[in-house]
Amino acid sequence: QIPEEVMEMMKPFRPSESNYRNVTKRLELDMNMGLDPAHRDKACVKMFPSYVSKVPSGKEKGQFMALDLGGTNYRILLVTLKGNNAPPEIIESTYAIPEIKMSGPGEALFDFIAETINDFLKSKKIPDKTISLGFTFSFPCNQKGLDVGILTRWTKGFSATNVEGKNVVELLGVALKKLNLKVSCKALVNDTVGTLASCSFEHPDCAIGLIVGTGSNACYIEDLSKVLTVDKTALMKNAKFIIINTEWGAFGENGTLEDIRTKYDRAMDKNSLHPGKQIFEKLISGMYLGEIVRLVLVELIEKKLLFKGNLPDAMRKPYSFLTKYMSDCERDPPHLHYSTEYMLRNELLVNTIDSLDCKIIRYCCEIVARRAAYLAGSAIAVLINKMNRPTVTIGVDGSLFRHHPSFAANMNAIIKQFKNPKCEFRLKLSEDGSGKGAAAIVAAHSF
Ligand code: BG6
Ligand code: GLC
Repeated sequence: QIPEEVMEMMKPFRPSESNYRNVTKRLELDMNMGLDPAHRDKACVKMFPSYVSKVPSGKEKGQFMALDLGGTNYRILLVTLKGNNAPPEIIESTYAIPEIKMSGPGEALFDFIAETINDFLKSKKIPDKTISLGFTFSFPCNQKGLDVGILTRWTKGFSATNVEGKNVVELLGVALKKLNLKVSCKALVNDTVGTLASCSFEHPDCAIGLIVGTGSNACYIEDLSKVLTVDKTALMKNAKFIIINTEWGAFGENGTLEDIRTKYDRAMDKNSLHPGKQIFEKLISGMYLGEIVRLVLVELIEKKLLFKGNLPDAMRKPYSFLTKYMSDCERDPPHLHYSTEYMLRNELLVNTIDSLDCKIIRYCCEIVARRAAYLAGSAIAVLINKMNRPTVTIGVDGSLFRHHPSFAANMNAIIKQFKNPKCEFRLKLSEDGSGKGAAAIVAAHSF
């Protein structure tokens, strides 16, 4: 049995149904403000128009490049779209972005991107002719057109200087020019938008793209008549709808989530790379959940409720309890602790572990992950109700959603509770990343 004191400590991580319902109401209000030119400045959720107003149908043809920057992996892809709903041919390489490029001068970051593109073109022996590029850039951008996007702020692990406030397509163009590369960026695409587009190949009713990975965010299809913040002259002709990148990660920055946040959330935020920012994201996504759990476990150890009060050295370090461990713990069957014990011994170098320790750790992980899934699910219900379609497929990507054993089930449960009963939905895990979608968006918008 989990000791009473532990359950007491975890209580603040268990908001009531009415707390979650209130979150949906406040989020809806904030989203409506984001769509309204008169109130947009005050909204936390910026609801950026993506200028994507055609969802790929699978009929697109041609060869395109795609970049996928901002998730766990930085990838370059060559995508050959074959039309007739045939699966595209994808050649891809993954590159590691050195820490120093993520936080150093922006110019060096874009030079690095251009160098990796050069390396990709050479190593894959791609003919030396102009190629169009779809740039999945998973950060908040105020787009002025499909190929113009001003980075409003860095999020997650990036903080390169001299990029915020600038058009990232232009910064990339300058770097490509230095190397005389014949690559022309035609679309700047958020990863949620790329995921929606990728998913729409097989599921024409896909109308929401969701990421639960390093960060969390969603996009959805909105009637053009409801979006007054868009520059119609920069849209394709006869556009009827537009995909909105909600950037919901910023929800709560004005204090609207204080009834949900705990002292552990606040402590984690305070020492994070972007304190005070991305409050909703920090309750949901992979970059942060493990650290929240670590702070809880450290307090349990201090109170002698765990590991007989001995704090393992490895656990003193911020971010040493990886979010991946939460999935490992929950994957154990209810009364056995193989993965939890293995992780504690081999990763955190704890020698003396008993089965109650394992149970307590699993319990804490479960509760923090369940809250994340309920929050993401509540927010998805807001979008489903906003669109009010009979059926919606939600294309989902991200390492946390992909690997966590109960995240999808918990999300499903709360969406069912909060959605309009007339709307049916299904969560569909994306198979091949957002790069395919970014390439198809370029194809669908070139005329
Ligand atoms: C990938 C997509 O599969 O998932 C990326 O191609 C996206 O565009 C990423 O950013 C999100 O997941 P994570 O866990 O890598 O942040
Ligand atoms: C962060 C970014 C957002 C992205 C999300 C998922 O919230 O600001 O643009 O979609 O992470 O990668």
